[in-house]
Amino acid sequence: MLVYLNGEYLPDSEAMVPVTDRGFVFGDGVYEVTRAVDGNLFAEEAHWLRLARGMRELGIDPGGYLDRGEVRSVSERLLRENDLASGHATIYLQVTRGAAPRTHWFPPRDTPPTVYLSASRFTVPEELRRNGASAITLPDIRWARCDLKTVNLLGAVLAKQRAKEAGAFDAVLLRDGAVTEGGATNVFGVIDGRLRTSPRSHYILPGITREIIIEIARQERIEVEEMPILAHELQIVEELFFTGTTTDVQPIVELDGRTIGGGRPGAIAVTLLGRLMERMRGGA
Ligand code: PDD
Repeated sequence: MLVYLNGEYLPDSEAMVPVTDRGFVFGDGVYEVTRAVDGNLFAEEAHWLRLARGMRELGIDPGGYLDRGEVRSVSERLLRENDLASGHATIYLQVTRGAAPRTHWFPPRDTPPTVYLSASRFTVPEELRRNGASAITLPDIRWARCDLKTVNLLGAVLAKQRAKEAGAFDAVLLRDGAVTEGGATNVFGVIDGRLRTSPRSHYILPGITREIIIEIARQERIEVEEMPILAHELQIVEELFFTGTTTDVQPIVELDGRTIGGGRPGAIAVTLLGRLMERMRGGA
């Protein structure tokens, strides 16, 4: 597999970062995962804008090392050279504050960021999408800036591991009696026929798929409320589903061992998944 690291294309086995890299030592960096279909990056501008905002908020200066055009052309080259220009793939991008002697405060301003991109084949789990998945609820133990897509992912790692041990697809995270999001997904529910998802705040990642799903739902004349689903409302949701770049729309048919929607994906989730896949194939 050919990857990109700090201006160079090289085999992944030869791509090395120093042990002083702040991504390694502090988790001091941001990342993006972007979907590609037949060589076209899906929602490329939205991913770039989220990355740029994250770097700005964290004071990581990409300087002359990274711009939108370059991310795009590196991504496209990685897809081509790794034989991923047809079918589904993902691009992983990570930018850290660079390598420098360990100090908690920022390193000198002229420290170059570490920029890494790779491409991987993505297989759509058609059967899971069709049949639905199970999930468990867990307390959201993450920090108070979940709106930033940082590589500090311990809260997500622990939640996903707990879900895996329970044989579930992901966790539905609860903070102060309300659903925030999933371990690596946003969460939507249907209550009284209306679609509900947590409003944007510091407690959720502003998912690109979340935004697209809200837009598609409105086009489909499905009412959307950006309002938290309360923990007790999970008992009465008519539908529940996760969204994300590698999750698309994943219906949840069982939560904490209790069946949702008669154990079948709901009509709204099925419609939204269908429209999302159409958009993706359209190369938006
Ligand atoms: N995860 N919430 C969290 C905590 C996430 O990590 C993700 C994405 C999402 C969905 O965002 P988007 O629709 O922009 O992918 C929501 C990525 C895919 C990951 O960590 O692999």
